[in-house]
Amino acid sequence: MTNCWSKLKENFSSAKDRSINSLFDDTTRMDHFSAETDQFLLDFSKTNIDHEALALLIRLAEDTEVAAKREAMFAGQKINKTEDRAVLHTALRASNTVPLIVDGKDVRHGIEVTLSRMESFCRAVQSGTILASGGERFTDVVNIGIGGSDLGPAMATRALAPYHIGPRCHFISNVDGADLTDTLCGLDPRRTLVIIASKTFTTIETMTNAKSALRWLKAGVGEAVADHLAAVSTSLERTAEMGIHPTRVFGFADWVGGRYSLWGPVGLPIMMAIGPKNFREFLAGGLAMDTHFQTAPFARNLPVLLGLVGIWHRNICQYSSRAILPYDERLGRLPAYLQQLDMESNGKRVTLDGKELSHASGPVVWGEPGTNGQHAFFQLLHQGTEVAPAEFLIAAKGHEPALQEHHDLLKANCLAQSEALMLGRTYDQALAIARNLGYDGSELHTQATQRVFPGSRPSITLAFPKLTPFVLGQIIALYEHRVFVEGAIWNINSFDQWGVELGKELANMLLPMVKGAAPNGKDASTCRLLKKLAV
Ligand code: F6P
Repeated sequence: MTNCWSKLKENFSSAKDRSINSLFDDTTRMDHFSAETDQFLLDFSKTNIDHEALALLIRLAEDTEVAAKREAMFAGQKINKTEDRAVLHTALRASNTVPLIVDGKDVRHGIEVTLSRMESFCRAVQSGTILASGGERFTDVVNIGIGGSDLGPAMATRALAPYHIGPRCHFISNVDGADLTDTLCGLDPRRTLVIIASKTFTTIETMTNAKSALRWLKAGVGEAVADHLAAVSTSLERTAEMGIHPTRVFGFADWVGGRYSLWGPVGLPIMMAIGPKNFREFLAGGLAMDTHFQTAPFARNLPVLLGLVGIWHRNICQYSSRAILPYDERLGRLPAYLQQLDMESNGKRVTLDGKELSHASGPVVWGEPGTNGQHAFFQLLHQGTEVAPAEFLIAAKGHEPALQEHHDLLKANCLAQSEALMLGRTYDQALAIARNLGYDGSELHTQATQRVFPGSRPSITLAFPKLTPFVLGQIIALYEHRVFVEGAIWNINSFDQWGVELGKELANMLLPMVKGAAPNGKDASTCRLLKKLAV
């Protein structure tokens, strides 16, 4: 049992008096509280972690056996104990040919075969070798999936817009018919390929959307619907039941978790959009981060450090959320993607062996791209009573050289926000501003207090050269491993998701009541709501 927790808490008690800004009196701070690879600078110097706290955090990672747990994952051990599964999304991006044995079988060959099949299919669609039923080229691809079968591909496809060379990709996820209607509106079924993506192929939202999309296709192309379909799933029987031709089905194994699945067949829309070559670059990025995670010493290991800063903020400072703030419009879906990755993985309340946790686990993850967020919720970040550590992401270069002024403004704003959060503004400074504005008497004090910023609010910045497929692959793998490190320290299973089950079961029971059956055994609130919602 580690005594690092109590020592970290002691450190924090004494840290209450130290402002983040004052830590920069140490002119070497940036050398110790940042880490660099050839692509990334992870700057966590604008937190109130000092030398002692950092050393304790690293010891905490050692004491909780993060390294051994990491190796168990990469080796294919069944670390997802409640589902008795290995966790091997990392194998999807490995170019390694060393056998990787799961349940007595080497899984490497199968991964490469599926990847090659995806590539042939994408190339054939992109080049027009595979055509729609009427002989036209596919101009649009619609991915139907939800959760991990939607968020990853939707996020990455948008992030890599400058690399699009294939058909336009669209995503339908919500069971709300509005999503299907608005996405299909304006699309021509005669030129549309629909990918039905579901690991289980039982998810009610995806199955419902798939059936409606099939009707839409049938109305447009008649009996040739199968020519307009492809599927991604671990269940080849269920895809066959839906009439999807086996050559158009891309399977994967149960050791790829839904929220970690965009590296394999679930990434088909990404590959459709950016082409196989760029998709391989994306995988190479993931692999580069895996190698870094496995080999860099903890003190220079990006996922480990990002995880440890997360632990400091969650368990020691007791901040209940983290804000993901990409200064990149194309990373607009990153916060939503990380919500699933982080909250579905680490939103747990018992340890791996079923004991109630004695400390907090995963925080609430939220965010929006900058600079839009600045004009929405940054007020609270700067002056609210809650502190939410801010995590900024910013590229040195954009993809719009003709709009350099925009990117310069983006960078200046990103840097200004982390600086403002740290520096704040004192009452005396605010007073001077209010005086300059012409206030005096009792109004002077009132006006000055509104302009005070407490400062010393923590942030992390991840800076990188440009959002390429290779860099995006690294960013996603970085966050995956950060979640792993935090989960390993908390001793929870980051790879199951039992918390989503109860709502699904109750929805199934409620469906007949929504359709008019008597509300049997329901509480007064639910009964009244059912009545109000009856049509
Ligand atoms: O409800 C949660 C969940 O199981 C996620 O973990 C998963 O990504 C999502 O549903 C979709 O599941 P499937 O790919 O099986 O349709």
